[in-house]
Amino acid sequence: VFTVVALVLGGLFLWLWTGSQVSTVGKESFGNELAIPPLAPSRVENDGTRVFDLRMQAGEKEFREGQRTSTWGFNGDYLGPTLRAERGEKVRVRIHNTLGEASTVHWHGMHLPAAMDGGPHQMVPAGGSWSPRWQVDQPAATLWYHPHPHGATEEHVQRGLAGMFLLDDDTSARLTLPKRYGVDDLPVIVQDVKFDGAQFDRGHRVMQSVGFLGDRTMVNGTLSPYREVTDELIRLRLLNASTARTYDFGFSDDRPFALVGTDGGFLERPASLERVQLSPGERAEIVVRMRVGERTVLRSFSQGSYDKYADAFQRRFGGGDDSFDVLELRAADRLRPSSELPSKLRELEIPDGENAVRARHFDLKRSGINGRKMAMDRVDETVTRGTTETWTVRNNNGMPHNFHVHDVQFRVLEVNGHTPPPELRGPKDTVFLPNGTTMKLAMRFDGPADPDTPYMYHCHLLYHEDQGMMGQFVVVEKGQRAGSPAAGTGTP
Ligand code: C2O
Ligand code: CU
Repeated sequence: VFTVVALVLGGLFLWLWTGSQVSTVGKESFGNELAIPPLAPSRVENDGTRVFDLRMQAGEKEFREGQRTSTWGFNGDYLGPTLRAERGEKVRVRIHNTLGEASTVHWHGMHLPAAMDGGPHQMVPAGGSWSPRWQVDQPAATLWYHPHPHGATEEHVQRGLAGMFLLDDDTSARLTLPKRYGVDDLPVIVQDVKFDGAQFDRGHRVMQSVGFLGDRTMVNGTLSPYREVTDELIRLRLLNASTARTYDFGFSDDRPFALVGTDGGFLERPASLERVQLSPGERAEIVVRMRVGERTVLRSFSQGSYDKYADAFQRRFGGGDDSFDVLELRAADRLRPSSELPSKLRELEIPDGENAVRARHFDLKRSGINGRKMAMDRVDETVTRGTTETWTVRNNNGMPHNFHVHDVQFRVLEVNGHTPPPELRGPKDTVFLPNGTTMKLAMRFDGPADPDTPYMYHCHLLYHEDQGMMGQFVVVEKGQRAGSPAAGTGTP
């Protein structure tokens, strides 16, 4: 009897834990044309500053015919426009928060002063405004923006607050890559969702320790999307803007594609792959070849390409072991010829760890990083401006986590002692760490010193972040001490 009870309870436990695994493969109708977020209008002031306006607002969107869902968005009902600026340009974003509560806008992947970062210390009160300004000083990349209020990031992103921020430079201008926005260069913002009647169901499953997991995906706010394409080569800027789910992207017919960029910009050279795995917050730029009149589906497969590094069984506990038909590409009957991809893209600007002055270690646990939960008034790490460090991040917590560092683009030196695979060889600001993974990262802190204003590092599974899997670091001048960040700012 005891054995039977134990088996039943064990089965129930496993079902509750893993029961969110779903598949939409073969079930999508691809009946909706993919929306492309508009490029945000901007104006250039006399001193050359490019100024954007973002309004955080509540709205309603008809994701499904006849069903009006309550949403949040930037300058619209859901998601936000694509901001675009060039390296060297001064930018300013005038943010106006018309929501009924305080929030923030964080520039994920951007190298900028801590006070402009939009983390939990830069709250924009309900009805209030905030106008961060900085000079773009990093290579061309696909970055993004989203709220970061401590304790409520999962909810604010899920309601619809997210958008892309593209950076261009001389290299991106010179390279023969598809670059006509919305034509052969497509933003692909992937989110998982669930509906309860007309409204979003944002609830977590009992025992669902990674946070919210939806039962279907959408791209750029479009359910069951298709896109007609008219060029031979199509560049997809993939962004995993989901709050907890990790995807393993590829094509339904297993065609190879060229990976040309990671979080912080181009790789040294294109890498031919069949899968690229992205955990929440990560980006990949891929180029896929289309043949006249054909259709292919961007799919998320159920087996992670990281299984070679991590225990495949453990990985299942993340809800990553499921599959989705994400976006159908339909090639026109005539395709514009594209130039061949360049064999060399750029010299990387990420440090190789050679002159690292300091090695730090981070142990990821659901209960906190290095045994501590996030505290707004505690500085966890103090780094010296202009130095390189190695950060070794370990996950032995029995569930998946990832790791994001503000302000920097780092190089992955090692994954469990191995040379990293191509998708981890470019500039990165977020990496996936399934259980049993240790990664050694090299990063350089080039921003201005500000001992009183911290940057964040955290798990980008947003429920974990909200629950305190986050820490703070400040950049100081040599010999300077960390100040004291205000405890009062932010709403834990
Ligand atoms: Cu995408 Cu700390 O955030
Ligand atoms: Cu986590």
